[in-house]
Amino acid sequence: MKELKIFGIVAIFTLVLYWGVEPFAHSQMHKHVDGHGFVYDGAADIAEATAAEKKDKAEAKKAFWADVAKVSKIKGDVAAGEAGFATCMGCHMEGGVNMGGVIPPVLDHAGAIYDKNYLIALIKDPAMASNVDHKYADTMTHPMGSIKAMMTDDQQVADVVAYIMAKKAGEVTTKEAFAEACGRCHAMRYAKTTQLGDTPTFKHEKDTLAYKIKVIDEQNLVKAYMGKLPPDLSIIIRARGHHFMETFVENPQSQLAGTSMPRVGLSHEGYEKVHAYMTEIGDPSKPAREELGPKVLLFFLVFTGLAFLWKKSMWKGLH
Ligand code: HEC
Ligand code: HEC
Repeated sequence: MKELKIFGIVAIFTLVLYWGVEPFAHSQMHKHVDGHGFVYDGAADIAEATAAEKKDKAEAKKAFWADVAKVSKIKGDVAAGEAGFATCMGCHMEGGVNMGGVIPPVLDHAGAIYDKNYLIALIKDPAMASNVDHKYADTMTHPMGSIKAMMTDDQQVADVVAYIMAKKAGEVTTKEAFAEACGRCHAMRYAKTTQLGDTPTFKHEKDTLAYKIKVIDEQNLVKAYMGKLPPDLSIIIRARGHHFMETFVENPQSQLAGTSMPRVGLSHEGYEKVHAYMTEIGDPSKPAREELGPKVLLFFLVFTGLAFLWKKSMWKGLH
């Protein structure tokens, strides 16, 4: 049975390459970053500051996240939170305008995509929550920083977050999740969306051009805020693996130290929605491919069986 031996050797080599060599090479080429399961308790931020031997910063982060933990234990009142939420809507309304670099996202599905602890931290101090405090001498100057002065009462913070979380009932589409969490900074050319949202179609070339100028103006503001224009994410899903994306969104600093992209604070479900959208846009043939896979394997199996029978019948008379 020479054929079987050859097959065995080929199979063993393939498996060694697939499970041994490839993962090893991969681990050598990419920095390994531990994820934290979309739990926002500041542990990663404190460890980062400690590792960089910034003692004061580490202490400040410890105190901040301890305060967040304290607020997360307060029972929030949903009805009272609705009134407090009006403060947020001053900036976060539909069709909002650029504020300090970006258009504040609508919060329609905030409860369905963000983590509760993160929201508390964000209201307490947006720059600290999103781990970009190193960019500010005074975190009050963050584009949402004034919320620190507007909402100083812990009970009120707990109420507003309780209200946001209670609203999550409405199902959020993958597109909405992406638009609300990432769309103010990242365009998706393949989905015809920019930092201004869906690109409308116009009858006249003149209007199309006028809209393009509006997009460029908005992108220039984002660029000035971030130091560079955030990349178009249409096909990012093909360039970056699952683990990178997950740990990057949880804490961009962990993968790109010093990056200006803030942490987004998504819950696991929120991240899954955003990830699904990027896959739909960047790799639209994936479902078809996955459906085809088992069929191809089945075909090869049947074909191998038939080939074997055929060979046997051909050789029968020759022995
Ligand atoms: C002064 C205007 C202003 C107010 C008031 C305000 N925000 Fe914001 N908010 C912003 C801006 C600007 C951003 C975008 C910041 C960025 O991307 O760097 C933002 C971002 C956010 C985000 C996305 C955070 C992330 O990490 O991606 C959430 C959620 C949010 N705000 C919730 C709230 C809530 C809840 C309130 C009320 C308690 C509130 N905001 C009040 C301006 C404001
Ligand atoms: C406030 C603006 C802002 C928001 C919101 C934002 N990003 Fe970014 N993002 C950036 C910037 C700026 C960069 C470029 C970072 C760099 O090169 O240092 C970036 C880079 C990236 C990259 C490329 C990283 C790499 O080097 O491969 C990915 C992936 C990414 N963002 C995903 C997301 C996702 C997913 C969301 C929503 C959950 C999101 N971003 C929300 C600003 C933002």
